[in-house]
Amino acid sequence: MDFQDIIIKKRNKQKLTAEEIAFFIDGVTKGTLPDYQISALLMAIYLNGMDTEETAAMTTEMAHSGELFDLSAIKGYKVDKHSTGGVADTTTLILAPLVASVGVPVVKMSGRGLGFSGGTIDKLESIPHFCTDISEKTALAYAQKSGIVLMGQTENLTPADKKLYALRDVTGTVESLPLIAASIMSKKIAAGADGIVLDVKCGNGAFMKTPEDAEALASVMVEMGHHVGRKVVAVISSMAQPLGLCIGNSLEVQEAIEVLKGNVGGDLLAVSLTLGAYMLLLAKRVHTVEEGKALLLTQIQNKKGLEKFRELLLQQGGNPDILTNYHLLPLSPCTYSIKAEQAGYLTGTDTARIGRASQETGAGRAYKEQPLDFGAGIIMKKRLGDKIEIGEELAVVYSQTAEKSKAAGDILKTAFTISKAPAPLPPLILKVIQ
Ligand code: URA
Repeated sequence: MDFQDIIIKKRNKQKLTAEEIAFFIDGVTKGTLPDYQISALLMAIYLNGMDTEETAAMTTEMAHSGELFDLSAIKGYKVDKHSTGGVADTTTLILAPLVASVGVPVVKMSGRGLGFSGGTIDKLESIPHFCTDISEKTALAYAQKSGIVLMGQTENLTPADKKLYALRDVTGTVESLPLIAASIMSKKIAAGADGIVLDVKCGNGAFMKTPEDAEALASVMVEMGHHVGRKVVAVISSMAQPLGLCIGNSLEVQEAIEVLKGNVGGDLLAVSLTLGAYMLLLAKRVHTVEEGKALLLTQIQNKKGLEKFRELLLQQGGNPDILTNYHLLPLSPCTYSIKAEQAGYLTGTDTARIGRASQETGAGRAYKEQPLDFGAGIIMKKRLGDKIEIGEELAVVYSQTAEKSKAAGDILKTAFTISKAPAPLPPLILKVIQ
């Protein structure tokens, strides 16, 4: 097969065959195709799209480009969860221990943050000595004992995605529906869970800005899962503002612990309960979503979720004393406060900009190898709809130097819209696709 013919075919808006897609992914995995030809095809796909059959073929080939994680040794129905990426989106740290605490095993491979959205692995690594780099063998042993494992992606999980994502990142081809769907679903399929709950973020802090785009992505991903015999539910949730109040690695760990202690409610809790309830529903642990939410809420009230989080910390080397002493978590020393310059109501937040401000503090990466400042970030003080007085604090920035805090603050300042009259609040859960 001549790869140039495949590029030309997609450039001319024609459909690729399963064999052509297999040839492409095989060449990516084995390193037999040059980056310039791979990039050319990625751009042709970005511009001209792929239909469901092409996306399914690409997803399956990518999933099988490395080893598949075999979870069959773990008893019970295994559920996984994935977020398409948002700001202050700490739901995994909350729902994984909650779901595991009612006997449904959670073995989750997570990624690192890039750009304005955070990554679960970075958050966990902000906990002193917590180890996310664990082998499949160790993960299985942990899961059999505790029912919960949170780990980084293993080296040989979907190598084709690693290569393609790195090229997409530098060729302006990230925001393509079929490429995102194949990238996410190939990893989820290779990670081995029986059921998958997807949190598809929608709004100005997400890849998908409109409900239509979010729904299209959600539908394709659900279909990809069904195509390979996995049960998939996609919850489309709002990213019109940061989900929680804390943005940054150790700050988000603290907020997750506060939710597990029952001290923090709001949108972060609501989305965590919804996603967790669908995980329980897929595992047939409950009969309805409402029953699932109520059960998970009970696990907060009786502290069983917090106990499971402690078990996870002990299992993976993290210091369990962080649960009662937040001073054991890093916190960057230089603060900068953002105050309202006018009175009114908070009617808009530019969430991507808030994410970029947090990146500026050192909490996020601009490029893959960039080291993080685990104690840096932002604490938001206001939510959409809140009444604001002149001079009231809108957010506080934490960073290593006064200059960094101010630079982040200068970006953050421009992310708030305050109006004289309140505006209707966007719905938190826009749709569920099963
Ligand atoms: N997350 C992924 O894993 N892949 C994408 O392409 C986008 C978000």
